[in-house]
Amino acid sequence: MRKPVIAGNWKMYKNVGDSIATAVALKPLVANANHCEVVIAPVFTALKPVADRLEGSNVHVSAQNCATEQSEGALTGEVAAFMLRDAGCSHVIVGHSERRQYFLETDAIVSKKVQAGLAAGLTVIMCVGETLDQRDQGKAQSIVSEQLVGGLSGLTASDLDRIIVAYEPVWAIGTGRTATPEQAQEMHAFIRRVFAERHSQGAAESLRVLYGGSVKPDNIAGLMKQTDIDGALVGGASLKAESFAEIVNYSR
Ligand code: PGA
Repeated sequence: MRKPVIAGNWKMYKNVGDSIATAVALKPLVANANHCEVVIAPVFTALKPVADRLEGSNVHVSAQNCATEQSEGALTGEVAAFMLRDAGCSHVIVGHSERRQYFLETDAIVSKKVQAGLAAGLTVIMCVGETLDQRDQGKAQSIVSEQLVGGLSGLTASDLDRIIVAYEPVWAIGTGRTATPEQAQEMHAFIRRVFAERHSQGAAESLRVLYGGSVKPDNIAGLMKQTDIDGALVGGASLKAESFAEIVNYSR
């Protein structure tokens, strides 16, 4: 049985005070959610204070990005994965489409970040997903497969249980336009097949594949009914403790 994951990606929203307030409000609302792993991803500056407030709770803290390099060094503006672990993170999101699009992250860069996250002992949520143009041209599966294979190259069998894949069609992010549960299911099943070919059937069966893109309290249940959807990566609807808690609670 794969334990679902509901992860909130706060993107570049909330200062330290607002992040703490949201995390503290969320904690009791999801305290009974044993059916899934609950993760929130605040901005870098809020990671440590939020992680401190959530210590001992069932809410895990994730970063939204990490450096490609694994050890400290002269890399102005970067934060290494081991520093995120030190700040109280258990997870890191890598390869989000906003990073691929605005910060020109390639699969090779994403792959280095995956390796860095794993080396630091973090669970890595690697995002993949096609743009609308790519889907319209019938390239959705080839793009997702390329991102999967490129981002997850060089992994050993022992790394695989700390990999989570998030399928986020770019056309569904922040647009209010969700993929239908059937569209998502089709791609999730495909991702699992690609993973099985690259690794093993057993690893593919244990892999958690999250859906992301305009997930809300009113569409999570339909998505979760699909056999290959193991949770969600939630942007906008994760910013308020109440709506995120509803998503967590409706994901049963
Ligand atoms: P959204 O964002 O839920 O606001 O569409 C999802 C994401 O980018 O992870």
